Amino acid sequence: MAELTNPEKRMLRALQERKGEWSLEEVLLGCDWEDQAIAVGAGHGLSNQGFVKISESSNTEVILGSEGERAATDGLLEARLWDFIQSNPSTTMKDLSSQFERHEAGPGVGLLKGLGVSLQGGTFSCEDSSAVSKSIAERTSYIESPSLEHPLFDHFKGRKNLIEVVEMVSRTWKITPNGQAVPADELKEVVKIAEITPELLQSDEWKNAQFRPYDVSLEASMPRSGRSHPMQALIERIRSIFLEMGFSELVDDYVQTAGWNMDSLFIPQDHPAREMQDTFYLDEPKQIKLDPKLIADWKAIHEHGGETESTGWGGEFSEEISQKGLLRTHTTVNTIQYLAKNPTKPCRVFAIDRVFRKESIDRTHLPEFHQIEGIIMEPGANLGMLVSTLKTFYEKMGYPEVRVRPAYFPYTEPSLEVEVKWRGKWLELGGAGIFRPEVTEPLGIKDPVCAWGMGLERLAMLVLGLDDIRQLYISDLEWLRNQPIL
Ligand code: PHE
Repeated sequence: MAELTNPEKRMLRALQERKGEWSLEEVLLGCDWEDQAIAVGAGHGLSNQGFVKISESSNTEVILGSEGERAATDGLLEARLWDFIQSNPSTTMKDLSSQFERHEAGPGVGLLKGLGVSLQGGTFSCEDSSAVSKSIAERTSYIESPSLEHPLFDHFKGRKNLIEVVEMVSRTWKITPNGQAVPADELKEVVKIAEITPELLQSDEWKNAQFRPYDVSLEASMPRSGRSHPMQALIERIRSIFLEMGFSELVDDYVQTAGWNMDSLFIPQDHPAREMQDTFYLDEPKQIKLDPKLIADWKAIHEHGGETESTGWGGEFSEEISQKGLLRTHTTVNTIQYLAKNPTKPCRVFAIDRVFRKESIDRTHLPEFHQIEGIIMEPGANLGMLVSTLKTFYEKMGYPEVRVRPAYFPYTEPSLEVEVKWRGKWLELGGAGIFRPEVTEPLGIKDPVCAWGMGLERLAMLVLGLDDIRQLYISDLEWLRNQPIL
């Protein structure tokens, strides 16, 4: 037997005293309750356990509507008007309008007309005023006890909000032999403690108290508190992975020159990615002065390979193009400058930063996004080291299946693309490679440099299971609240 609730115990105690049907009023009285919902609830509980039998019957009843309630206290509209006219024999329409509310006078006169009252020469008259009074008295008594069968039912049904027809369910409860058999000491009401307070713990009362059990299967509201945006949380996680792997972080500006963004990386000046439609060039600053020595080195490399064994790209290198201001299109622009400043000190550096490309916004593209960039420069750095570093990173992110494919970038040789397996498919996440001599030699770098650059939003789509990249930036609070903790 499931434990009975206190109201169930009380009701069963009452019903044990008298077999037979109990009406709602009797139950309320017997249990000393005012709220019928408690009685109905307890009755259901007892019936589920087989201790009482419920009989339900429904019947149609007429009750007063909102206007009917008003008529029951203030009188029917026609009664109030008629009383006024009776005591003020020369009442005019104007008097009625000032005496009664605007929406009452007109319809009220209509009702009186229906009873034989007419408006003649500005005042009200009728042939048989006692007949009018009689009809009104009948209507008034109907309102006092409305019913379905009464001849006035149809009249009131046609008037607005005076009466309503409702289905009423009435129940009676009757104790069963099983209910009768429940021993009295099982029907003692106990106070169950739902909340543990310091006062309770300090007193000795808790020792004999009964506690209400927790029902862990109940729906509960979700506690909400401030939290990082999922992108920020993801950045933090990536940052800690690289820090853990022995890398240090590099932060730099996104306003850069075409020289550092492209020329230093041996991207030919006529490369399609440099076009206006792909890169955001700046009006302010339109040109950024660069060290003439740097430009001369890049010019030599691009035109004929400089002192490397490369033949360069040929053609004529433009110093003006080199000094154009732009929004960086990749974070490699920052790692290369870090190397230019520290050409001989072995390092492991990473950056997670914003880049800009003139992309039209769609499901998988944004004009402003983030890259996860990194380099390893040390004697003997090689492709195997690069691939295993990337694999370790993705494994720590929760993507153990990683593969690389040959690729092409003007600044690396060999070059590769990195893919991870997600929901059974290989997804391309970024590029990597070993910097070419055309990139490293003019800067005085002697050791090999492994480099990579990957899209952060792409990775976020995997981690958060998104199929639209825009979701990350639309600030949909409901979505944001429901994101997992990363
Ligand atoms: N910078 C490349 C990009 O934007 C990625 C890359 C970085 C490739 C470093 C090779 C080496 O896609």
